[in-house]
Amino acid sequence: MRSSLRKIVESYKEGASLAEACAPPAAWYTDPRIFELEQRTVFCRSWQTVGRVDQVRERGQYITAEITGEPILVVRGGDNVLRGFFNVCRHKGAAIMTEREGRTQNLRCPYHGWTYSLEGELKGTPDFAGVRNFDPSANGLIPCQTALWQNWLFVKVETHGPSLERFLGADLTGRIHKSGIENLHWLERRSYTLNCNWKVFVDNYLDGGYHVPHLHRGLNSVLDYSQYTIETGERFCLQSSPIVNDRGDSDTAAVRRGDRALYFWIYPNFMINSYEGAMDTNLVIPRGIDRTEVIFDFYFETISEHAREQNLASIAVSERIQAEDVAICESVKRGLASRAYKPGRLSVRREAGEHLFHKLLYADLKAGME
Ligand code: FES
Ligand SMILES: [Fe+2]
Repeated sequence: MRSSLRKIVESYKEGASLAEACAPPAAWYTDPRIFELEQRTVFCRSWQTVGRVDQVRERGQYITAEITGEPILVVRGGDNVLRGFFNVCRHKGAAIMTEREGRTQNLRCPYHGWTYSLEGELKGTPDFAGVRNFDPSANGLIPCQTALWQNWLFVKVETHGPSLERFLGADLTGRIHKSGIENLHWLERRSYTLNCNWKVFVDNYLDGGYHVPHLHRGLNSVLDYSQYTIETGERFCLQSSPIVNDRGDSDTAAVRRGDRALYFWIYPNFMINSYEGAMDTNLVIPRGIDRTEVIFDFYFETISEHAREQNLASIAVSERIQAEDVAICESVKRGLASRAYKPGRLSVRREAGEHLFHKLLYADLKAGME
């Protein structure tokens, strides 16, 4: 018999300390009702990364995105103000801007040609004479919240809830500020599709380096596993490891430089991985209960032709690590669906980040049922 959604959510022991905690019930990873609830709560109520600041620097530059199926448009107005809108025409609902990014003079719907200003006001309605009680000024684009932080553009679908600054918290913003990542330049994007629930990928990321010596031999040879630190804040986790360059895998050592590797996770699905002169971000997008897209964006200090070989070598190392992670995530997915699986315990030394993740999820899922 199928358990009720409430029972599935509440069977997680949210009050347990890390030393007493278990992972969430398997149904959180396998039941489509949880997927739907997460879309409405976890993803609509959190600030989601939709693009980079450098894509919308000039007046008229825009990007489009989708959050939980909601079409989103962020555009820099003629007044230089950045605004977020639902990319939904007020006539029949078609998407107004259909390219991923670009620069435009106005926002023209491709369906019947309704035109909006860069500030979202309805300016043109072809063949609409004779329509009564129609006020164009009440038919502008519907706004959504947008904000910038560091190299990124964020959007929140729900109107209520904390500002981006408050959502990220002073602990996180202070730390990232010191890392100098705003000086890095975006080079390219690669996307991976995994046959597992999105939380399997996040759990794997947040296990405090637990899997690194076993699964990532190359990476392990340049990290000092015993010195790995794990720090949690209100909605973020920072995992960090000293980098040791005098031993191990030379391909990895050549592109993982500096004193420390910093791995920031921001609830629920954004990661920033930073090394000296290089950074990649991971955006984890649920595409179904057991299908996940992970988008990697790679940034480097120098992106000139001269640095190309070194940058591509760095991306190749990330791809090798990602392939190892994909294989283990898909293995976990099969295990979670097994009748033999019961939620496992967490390592106190390693898995504080996962524990935070599960507690935040619980709070959002529970609130979504009230
Ligand atoms: S749906 Fe946009 S003009 Fe008709
Ligand atoms: Fe990994």
